[in-house]
Amino acid sequence: MLATNDIYCLDVLEGLGQLKDNSIDLAITSPPYNLGNNHHTGTKLHSSYKDAMPENEYQEWQIKVIQEIFRVLKDDGSFFYNHKNRIKDGKQISPYEWLFKTDFIIKQEIVWINRSQNFDKIRFYPFTERIYWLTKLKTTKLNNIIKHSDVFNWQEWRPVGTNVNHTRQFPEKMVTDILQCFPDKSIVLDPFMGYGTTAVACKALGREYIGFELDEQFCQDAKERVAALDENFAVAAN
Ligand SMILES: C[S@@+](CC[C@H](N)C(=O)[O-])C[C@H]1O[C@@H](n2cnc3c(N)ncnc32)[C@H](O)[C@@H]1O
Repeated sequence: MLATNDIYCLDVLEGLGQLKDNSIDLAITSPPYNLGNNHHTGTKLHSSYKDAMPENEYQEWQIKVIQEIFRVLKDDGSFFYNHKNRIKDGKQISPYEWLFKTDFIIKQEIVWINRSQNFDKIRFYPFTERIYWLTKLKTTKLNNIIKHSDVFNWQEWRPVGTNVNHTRQFPEKMVTDILQCFPDKSIVLDPFMGYGTTAVACKALGREYIGFELDEQFCQDAKERVAALDENFAVAAN
């Protein structure tokens, strides 16, 4: 079993394979979207993978990852899966196409209006992403202490943008809002840790985190980002 409060520079399935059954309270993640490395402009492109699998292989891979998360999640745990409707070969592909093939129960679909940057005039601009709240049990509840609807707008969950080292970060507030609705859940997994946003939000709220990131540079950057928080805490305490 790997220790918590660390980010491991590992492939997602290799990392998940080292976690025990029923050991995680909450999982929050955003996987690669399989849209190719060039779909975003940014200061740095991913180097360790092409993000361009044949779509059927991508979906099979996602199903394997999601089923592993099902295995490691406690029975009363919850998994928040950030993805979106993608347009490929002239048709829309919904994440439901593979979510329905997993063992998870779909508790709720949350819409994030993030105003992404596709202004192609052949369709209405796709301005939303989704966060699927997935559980093992129908009875699992969250505590909506933030008193929010199932739609979050871009001013609330402000997209991080592309002029940064890691171009596909999700907003820290997305993670803190979710964590706040599970006050008694302590061990949080993000199997595609990226630049460490989930770990940062966990530290801020005193939760334990664990995660994996394949790209060596992003993994080191994420570790440094989390370590910098410790330094800030130390400065504040002095
Ligand atoms: C959408 S980004 C996650 C961003 C993250 N939520 C954040 O806020 O920084 C997806 C991440 O998955 C990583 N990744 C891609 N393939 C992976 C694999 N097989 N195992 C682990 N991580 C992988 C990518 O390097 C990328 O950083």
